[in-house]
Amino acid sequence: MSHVLVTGGAGFVGSFVVDALVARGDDVRVVDCLHPAAHRQRPDYLNPGAEYLWGDLRDPEVACRATAGVAAVCHQASMVGLGVDFADVTGYVAHNDGATAELLHALHDRDFTGRFVLASSMVVYGDGRYRCARHGAVAPDARRLDDLERGFWDPRCPECGAALAPETVTEDAPTSPRNVYAATKLHQEHLTAAYAREHASPFVALRYHNVYGPRMPRDTPYAGVASIFRSALQRGDAPAVFEDGRQRRDFVHVSDVAAANLLALSADADVCGPFNVATGAPCTLYEMACDLAGAFGSAAPAPAVVGGYRLGDVRHVFGGTERARRLLGYTAAVERRDGLADFARQALRP
Ligand code: UD1
Repeated sequence: MSHVLVTGGAGFVGSFVVDALVARGDDVRVVDCLHPAAHRQRPDYLNPGAEYLWGDLRDPEVACRATAGVAAVCHQASMVGLGVDFADVTGYVAHNDGATAELLHALHDRDFTGRFVLASSMVVYGDGRYRCARHGAVAPDARRLDDLERGFWDPRCPECGAALAPETVTEDAPTSPRNVYAATKLHQEHLTAAYAREHASPFVALRYHNVYGPRMPRDTPYAGVASIFRSALQRGDAPAVFEDGRQRRDFVHVSDVAAANLLALSADADVCGPFNVATGAPCTLYEMACDLAGAFGSAAPAPAVVGGYRLGDVRHVFGGTERARRLLGYTAAVERRDGLADFARQALRP
């Protein structure tokens, strides 16, 4: 039994990690600020087997109390999503970078050398990995505004301008954050890696792909697309699919993400670095929308490809899971259609 701190343990992914840790007999402390972008009220699913510390990690006193006596840290607390507009920059930097800095500072004061597992994201890869028929593997620039305006959705080859074919992203791919949230996720990785080097503590960054499942926040500017589509279907509206619906993602069930966290927390000391957390079975956004609509029954409206775009969005990202399988023993257990059918039946989070 080890003493694990789960930051953001009242949230969507964090609460599943807490449940799994309590179930395996670990001693769990949660620190959570119940950020209003994620919580309208204190959730009703909190695990009574964990200790809860309500406070903001940016407060050094909260960080100090949270870290007392812990043997491992699972850092899930984060502002997620694309947000409303650039004015969100201060919130993302404060809650993602600032809180991580205070947490690491408190761990430093306590000479912490235990395992540190960070919730990172596939968004650190930017536009993913692509191949040009003429120039081979290339790293495209961010998509051009004039291309998006006229509905040319795929990134172009930086050499010849041709449309590129997407490939599976492995953890050795260059990072290239394309929005504020992505920049803070990469910075969290860098800050924690610096701590790990200086304190010889094992550090794992789990790069989540598109997580969905029960307790997912309802549709807000900070929610993922699965939640937005589910809310539309519950209202009887068609899911509005941006671009041409052919953008590819890997939708991974929250229970698989929690399982990856437990494996990362108990891995051998030399198992470190970034890991994709995905299913290895990507799909287009339109396919996901059809699966979800199908789960609502034959009367549900079919998804509508409405065009349009969000500037910070990346086109295709789907990650290879070989490294996680080999070093963590992770494989996703929930198949997308089963997971989405279950998701469609869940009550919305208040
Ligand atoms: C999502 C999360 C991100 C997380 C990452 C990995 C959000 C907003 N984004 O990134 O925090 O780190 O997964 O877990 O939570 N779309 C529509 N219609 C809509 C909304 C979105 O078609 O109403 C499209 C978008 O244009 C995009 C795709 O759906 O092409 C995915 O969007 P979204 O889930 O918001 O963001 P990701 O970039 O995949």
